[in-house]
Amino acid sequence: MSFLIQPPIPERLNRCQLFGPGSRPELFEKMASSQADVINLDLEDSVAPPSKVEARQNISEAISNIDWSDKTLSVRINGLDTEYWVDDVLSLVDNSIERLDCIMIPKVGNSSDIYTVDALVTALEKKNKRKKSLKFEIIIETAAGIENINEIALASDRLVAMSFGVADYAASMGMQTTNIGGTQEGYYTNSENGEKLFMDPWHHPMVAMIAACRANGILPVDGPFGDISDKENYIAQAKRSATLGMSGKWAIHPSQVELANQVFTPSEKAIENAEGIISAMEAAEAKGAGAAVFNGKLIDIASIKQAKVLIDQHNKIKNTS
Ligand code: COA
Ligand code: MG
Repeated sequence: MSFLIQPPIPERLNRCQLFGPGSRPELFEKMASSQADVINLDLEDSVAPPSKVEARQNISEAISNIDWSDKTLSVRINGLDTEYWVDDVLSLVDNSIERLDCIMIPKVGNSSDIYTVDALVTALEKKNKRKKSLKFEIIIETAAGIENINEIALASDRLVAMSFGVADYAASMGMQTTNIGGTQEGYYTNSENGEKLFMDPWHHPMVAMIAACRANGILPVDGPFGDISDKENYIAQAKRSATLGMSGKWAIHPSQVELANQVFTPSEKAIENAEGIISAMEAAEAKGAGAAVFNGKLIDIASIKQAKVLIDQHNKIKNTS
């Protein structure tokens, strides 16, 4: 470990973030009673321009009037390149809707984007005597966002989570695909017997984002998977993300919530194995050894930290349910 200790991520679950358009208030109660850890009410791309004003109104009312239980409640505002975002923030930073936890800023390209929203939110919180300080979630979904990922991660103390947004990222990068997430038809190599092996075109930006998040105590989150009917590949994508270090994944339809929860909830077998590693290392350490063999594999002091990643997640889930 460097002299600088890696800060911990926020002490809360973020296995699934369920999205719903602010222009469809009939969905809000259903979102509140879902099993998602985080709810994202949307003012951005799922709301058509003529409905922006009404969506703001729907969301302000719903924040106060609906029982969101212990979920993290977040609203996605419009991007800084639009005429909507200032009014979005004005409608949200109000002491009458203290229940709101986070504002999600899309298409963040550099630290100044976050600085700008932070300055406005800070002034409004003071002016409106808001007791609870709003946190920020952001979406990394442009070439600039990845290029500037490290300065972005340091931009504000409000920043608690980053999501990787595949659709806008694909457009920004000029990728030849109209699919939202997952492996892509054109991105394959051939095996020796001529079979197509599909690779992961999101690997690099996801790893860059996860490293920036983990180095700065921010939750890294995998974004949307557009093919609602394809549960198998949603799970495959979520498993790749979990293996790389993402904390959770978006659901853009209620049917995806249980899939994300399943992948980001360590299995009983994984917990048994992690506990086994810890016990075996305790026994090794009692004998003065720093390394041991567990189930035929080398384990050492780093294995304890690996096992604790799973046990910490398991404990958070146990303490929440
Ligand atoms: N949250 C909670 N419930 C939802 C929901 C959501 N996001 N989307 C749909 N439902 C409900 C429907 O109301 C319906 O409920 P019912 O069985 O009580 O009638 C049920 O789930 C099945 O819905 P379905 O008919 O399959 O979906 P739809 O055609 O109404 O809507 C989408 C499909 C994709 C348009 C809708 O799910 C949606 O808007 N998702 C979020 C999009 C979004 O926010 N994008 C921004 C981030 S990428
Ligand atoms: Mg987007």
